[in-house]
Amino acid sequence: MPQDPEDPAQLSTAHRVALLSRDDRIFHVVLAQQFDREFIEELCRLAEMIRSIAEARQGAQFLRTLLGHKRAMLYFIQPSTRTFLSFTAACQVLGMPHNEVRNPSTSSEVKGETEDDTIRVLSQYFDLIIMRHPEEGFAEQMAHMLNRMRRTIPLINGGSGKDQHPTQALLDIYTLLRSLGRPAQEGARPIFSPDPLKGKTIAFVGDLQRGRTVRSLAYLLCRFPGVRMLFVSAPELQIGEDIIEYIERHSIEHEIHDDLRAVIDQCDAVYMTRLQDEWDRDGESRSIDYSSYTITYEMAERFKPGMVIMHPLPRRHEIDKRLDNTPHARYWAQVRNGMWMRAAMIASIFNVDARIIDHYHSYYAR
Ligand code: NCD
Repeated sequence: MPQDPEDPAQLSTAHRVALLSRDDRIFHVVLAQQFDREFIEELCRLAEMIRSIAEARQGAQFLRTLLGHKRAMLYFIQPSTRTFLSFTAACQVLGMPHNEVRNPSTSSEVKGETEDDTIRVLSQYFDLIIMRHPEEGFAEQMAHMLNRMRRTIPLINGGSGKDQHPTQALLDIYTLLRSLGRPAQEGARPIFSPDPLKGKTIAFVGDLQRGRTVRSLAYLLCRFPGVRMLFVSAPELQIGEDIIEYIERHSIEHEIHDDLRAVIDQCDAVYMTRLQDEWDRDGESRSIDYSSYTITYEMAERFKPGMVIMHPLPRRHEIDKRLDNTPHARYWAQVRNGMWMRAAMIASIFNVDARIIDHYHSYYAR
């Protein structure tokens, strides 16, 4: 096992996953491929429990006792609203003090300190680093660097370049399970129907090549045999070959399309994305006609009943605003689900999940 892999992407996925684990548990959260089906569902149930517990004042107080002895650093040197705020809120839910660096021009990086050294320094003050960075692979390299330090602390990837955004994918799955897999009976607590995504068609729409949320969610959906994925995009913005290979290896049904209008009536969920033109070299994607990757109010009559519209946000014009207040729109719910899912993820990393489950059962499942 190389001690200092220069380029983690050259290692096998199994090896990469092993380097991010401790005692067979996920330690650093960097890649969506780290998550198996059992753990995804465990996190969704935990998120659901945290959400229920937090409803009551006494429950919220209990949650805030869990991680008061730990500190989190949010190192977000790429723009972020939701991911940053939902991690902040998740830390608050668990009583975990947190601090932030969002602008490297206010840190010693302007004096020539390398980013590696900055992360090393942060690891001395904090017990968790949550990171968003424009470069693919940087979060993974930093996780490996932290592994080699005497004081090893976990790192969570809150978005790595065009590559991955694993916690967004987890909240997306949580939203799908809540939307498509909820038991029908009133007042039901955290039980998702078995195999809720089996036989469901999920369309990814828009800039699939540079949308990291799409890439991470496609990996996670490979843990749900029986799901069918449609990739609807202009040919120059289609999903990467690496993702298609992964999907094929997992025998997941999938199709490539270039017009949402042609497939809208087949979808159980539509995952919309904006044009990621900040990655353009010379404004090349601006000439793409995005109307084929836009969901309009007029399409609603062709929606399947209960069809779910999702979007990681921020959006531009790819969703007709008249759909916002229909039951199809789940993008606002996604935002809130992110807070509970990230709290579940952090609770699991610090092994306080069992305490949450015990509390839940003693108060809610009598
Ligand atoms: C996304 C991101 O940053 O990848 N936003 C988010 O985290 N919810 C999507 C985007 O920027 O388009």
